Amino acid sequence: MNHFLIIGGGGHAKVVIDAVLKAHPNIKISVFDDDEKKHGTRILNVLIEPPNLNVTLLSKGIEACIAIGDNLTRIQKYLFWKELGLKFRTVIHPDSLISPFAKIGDGTVVFAGAVINPEAWIGDNVIVNTGSVIEHDCVLENHVQVATNATLCGGVKVREGAMIGAGATILPGVEIGRYAVVGAGAVVISSIPDKQTYVGVPARAL
Ligand SMILES: CC(C)(COP(=O)(O)OP(=O)(O)OC[C@H]1O[C@@H](n2cnc3c(N)ncnc32)[C@H](O)[C@@H]1OP(=O)(O)O)[C@@H](O)C(=O)NCCC(=O)NCCS
Repeated sequence: MNHFLIIGGGGHAKVVIDAVLKAHPNIKISVFDDDEKKHGTRILNVLIEPPNLNVTLLSKGIEACIAIGDNLTRIQKYLFWKELGLKFRTVIHPDSLISPFAKIGDGTVVFAGAVINPEAWIGDNVIVNTGSVIEHDCVLENHVQVATNATLCGGVKVREGAMIGAGATILPGVEIGRYAVVGAGAVVISSIPDKQTYVGVPARAL
């Protein structure tokens, strides 16, 4: 891989660019963003361009990830670009700790200080943010986000598109429903249904 495409030019993209450059210091990076106001400006010295995935880039096998923090927007962009034939690649910061017995899907990003323990299964287009801990036997379905410093104890299952807020703790074996949101700092002691937001210690429905 000598050319990597990052879709999204906001704050989250800064952390993705940083991780890509730590892992591949000489790689060429392109950044696409829909926002006209950003076009021609730079993010960590990389030019932000309007989305323009031409045939040449595709035929040269460019790989990408979606660098958008909002889960629903990230899903929408992922599906859109995948349909156009773009290939997604996992971005792993070299200062994360990932068991060789863990599995991680395409387009997923794992940032500095994150720990992923044996037989954790992580899907596609997932964010495993800075300093978060994904214990053994966890399952994170596609498009999940685990925010900075969150801890998922052993055997936790996070269903598609759910968001675990910064510093939250999910106790062993708990299941977080599809598109559910766990607030920052929550301690989740029992399973949460789909699309519900839970906050607090112990976590309760908002
Ligand atoms: C839970 C969350 C999604 C709620 O957002 P929201 O729907 O906009 O909620 P509001 O800010 O309007 O707050 C609604 C109520 O919930 C409370 N609340 C919000 N977040 C809370 C949290 N994390 N823990 C405890 N209470 C919380 C507010 O105090 C407020 O209470 P009130 O009605 O008694 O005044 C949001 O606050 C949150 O924690 N997001 C996670 C952010 C994060 O970790 N991002 C990742 C960065 S790496």
